[in-house]
Amino acid sequence: MRAVLLSETGGPEILRVEDVARPDPGDGEVLIRVRAASINPIDWKHRRGLSPKDLPAVLGSDISGTVEQSRADGFVEGEDVFGFAPRGGYAEFATTPTPAIAKKPAGMTHEQAAAIPVSGLTAWQARFDRGGLQRGQTLLVAGAAGGVGHLAVQLGKHAGARVIGTGSARNREFVLGLGADEFVDYTSQDVSETVSDVDLAFDTVGGETTMTLLPTVREGGALVVIAGAPPEAQAAERGVRAELLIMSVSSEQLAKIAELVASGEVRVEIAGTFSLSQVATAHELSEAGHTRGKLILTP
Ligand SMILES: NC(=O)c1ccc[n+]([C@@H]2O[C@H](COP(=O)([O-])OP(=O)(O)OC[C@H]3O[C@@H](n4cnc5c(N)ncnc54)[C@H](OP(=O)(O)O)[C@@H]3O)[C@@H](O)[C@H]2O)c1
Repeated sequence: MRAVLLSETGGPEILRVEDVARPDPGDGEVLIRVRAASINPIDWKHRRGLSPKDLPAVLGSDISGTVEQSRADGFVEGEDVFGFAPRGGYAEFATTPTPAIAKKPAGMTHEQAAAIPVSGLTAWQARFDRGGLQRGQTLLVAGAAGGVGHLAVQLGKHAGARVIGTGSARNREFVLGLGADEFVDYTSQDVSETVSDVDLAFDTVGGETTMTLLPTVREGGALVVIAGAPPEAQAAERGVRAELLIMSVSSEQLAKIAELVASGEVRVEIAGTFSLSQVATAHELSEAGHTRGKLILTP
């Protein structure tokens, strides 16, 4: 099969499509013919060697496709599924244990489904599992136009919260169009002076942004970060809980998010669709850090 095999670390130019052996599903696993795979920043962090990964390895994890062979209960050949492929997703075929996948509803395309796993679960878990967001509370999403952020804004609205999103000016209409009640342009406004008393700040940006969010959180509120270390000591001084969220795989949560997408309550923004041989271009875009929604590969 054709796959993007990472054998060394480096820039996007090292990415090549190669012929590799088609994987065999083990007990409790399915073999999936991949129709779409999505790109997450962790993929280029693996390529750069910024996040450790045993090489050689097929890149990627988020896929949607059709079961080609099943060695697991509850999944049969020909069914459309989506989720995580722990041994790589930028490929024509992928194997995965079934607790890492869910059935794809008919009302959702493979491209939309492939966009969900990492971004959707992270947004879901920040909102409920870590953030404990309640109806009527206020959620601030930093990076509201990105893969995780655009879903977090919509899941926050779906939970009945007031949502404030940050991004650059070109994303104002996009973020407000997702349902956000307010938008803060980080290139011209200081969020720490513009926003206050939020119940939950969700930081998908990291770096210097994290500390600018802390003053926006009310005493007793929470700051959940996913792209760097949480400022635990400074948060504690203000009576704020600061936590790092590491997303975990949940077939049940995948299915719940898929229902919202299939019913049109949550929309998945596709920034661009690329063939496997265009993977370097897609990685360049992801690494530039200004993707609106998700980048998709169609093997
Ligand atoms: N811990 C975990 O389990 C976990 C899970 C998922 C992702 N992550 C990490 O979380 C980060 C975000 O992931 P992602 O997939 O959402 O990335 P992404 O799609 O590449 O995010 C791009 C977005 O970030 C926005 N952005 C960049 N700088 C900003 C700033 N200073 N303020 C506000 N918005 C800004 C951009 O908007 P503009 O173009 O308007 O600037 C763009 O829309 C990555 O570092 C990823 O590795 C961690």
